[in-house]
Amino acid sequence: MYSEIIQELSSLNKDDINKIVLSKSKQEIQKATVRPMLLKNNRKWQIEKIINNQAFHSNIEYHDLESDVLSLLEKYEFCDINIILKGKTISYRVSKKKKLFRNEHKTAVKNNTILSHDVPKKYILEEGMPILPLVDLGVFDSNFNVKKSKYDKYKQINRFVEIIADEFKSYDKDELTIIDFGCGKSYLTFIIYYYFAFVKKINVKIMGFDLKDDVVKHCNAIAEKYNYKNIRFITGDISKIETCQEHVDMIITLHACDTATDYALFFAIKNRIKHIFSVPCCQHEVNQQISNKNEFSIILRHGLYKERFSAILTDAIRCEVLQDHGYEVDVVEFVDFENTPKNAMIRAKYKGKQVSLENNMHLKKIVEEFSIRPTILKLFGEKYLRDGE
Ligand SMILES: C[S@@+](CC[C@H](N)C(=O)[O-])C[C@H]1O[C@@H](n2cnc3c(N)ncnc32)[C@H](O)[C@@H]1O
Repeated sequence: MYSEIIQELSSLNKDDINKIVLSKSKQEIQKATVRPMLLKNNRKWQIEKIINNQAFHSNIEYHDLESDVLSLLEKYEFCDINIILKGKTISYRVSKKKKLFRNEHKTAVKNNTILSHDVPKKYILEEGMPILPLVDLGVFDSNFNVKKSKYDKYKQINRFVEIIADEFKSYDKDELTIIDFGCGKSYLTFIIYYYFAFVKKINVKIMGFDLKDDVVKHCNAIAEKYNYKNIRFITGDISKIETCQEHVDMIITLHACDTATDYALFFAIKNRIKHIFSVPCCQHEVNQQISNKNEFSIILRHGLYKERFSAILTDAIRCEVLQDHGYEVDVVEFVDFENTPKNAMIRAKYKGKQVSLENNMHLKKIVEEFSIRPTILKLFGEKYLRDGE
């Protein structure tokens, strides 16, 4: 049964493999992870086994990957197998009847993270860089090393910057204006400012918006302390802002709560802002509204599925609306699920493409089928909702 996986593994370019995660074993083992590594400049694989919450490590030769993964699969009878590659993840699942199911999905292109005792993990904004606001915000210690408790957040903001940097690698203007909606403590806002102002040396201007006045004041004080002239924070409710006096090139949102993402996207669409990078979270609105009297009711029977389905439906509708307004859209996993389950990023770029009216009909059908009125559709009124509600 596992031979199909090994066959696929041997057909892959090994340089593209970020890691292989084996889980759901019938034995005492919780998980096994295989990662590429460099040991005294020799390429190897490191196997990490988690047994009774303890990690056990061993290294294997580079050419032994297939045979050793097969041994692991056979010995521990894993049922979930994820091969995480640059740009996509291939997943296999073994059913109770021992049938193998294969699936694959796109992820943001990520350079192979080589784990090494010789080579440190590479981030676009490395530990040790003097990003002073991150010390004030408690992400770095005074030696600019990431604090353990902030490692997941640091990874998120670094990946966020990496994805933006990739989009702007051939940017030839020397000015850029960005709004961060729901900036909160503004780790992301400051790191993006640092990247464009000090690494790319672009005349960047960033505005962070948040409801919380105390947090906004604190962020403005940090910006002032380090003489970061073109970054400012404003107390405000996203739902109340429709237009902007100045030209804005990009909006970002990272975990802006519930419908705050809708207002941010609405703002971007209304103002034809070219770049959108948005990672939504807490999609409660649809979860509270959704119901179905037809065959789809089975999706909603269990709370967990209902919550996840509502989140996916909310974001899928947001993507359709963006597409409908001339944006090219894709969705990528920007960090691993283990880092945060809210890990799907909507990336959109305004291209001015016109979309057929059929799209609106699909959205109208969906909102009726599930009796939902998501904010993003309400904001556009009758275009999507039959009664124009
Ligand atoms: C989970 S925090 C995320 C903060 C930050 N982006 C990050 O990832 O660290 C969400 C933030 O969105 C802000 N927020 C929620 N609704 C908002 C609204 N309608 N207008 C402005 N800010 C809002 C909250 O005050 C909070 O600081």
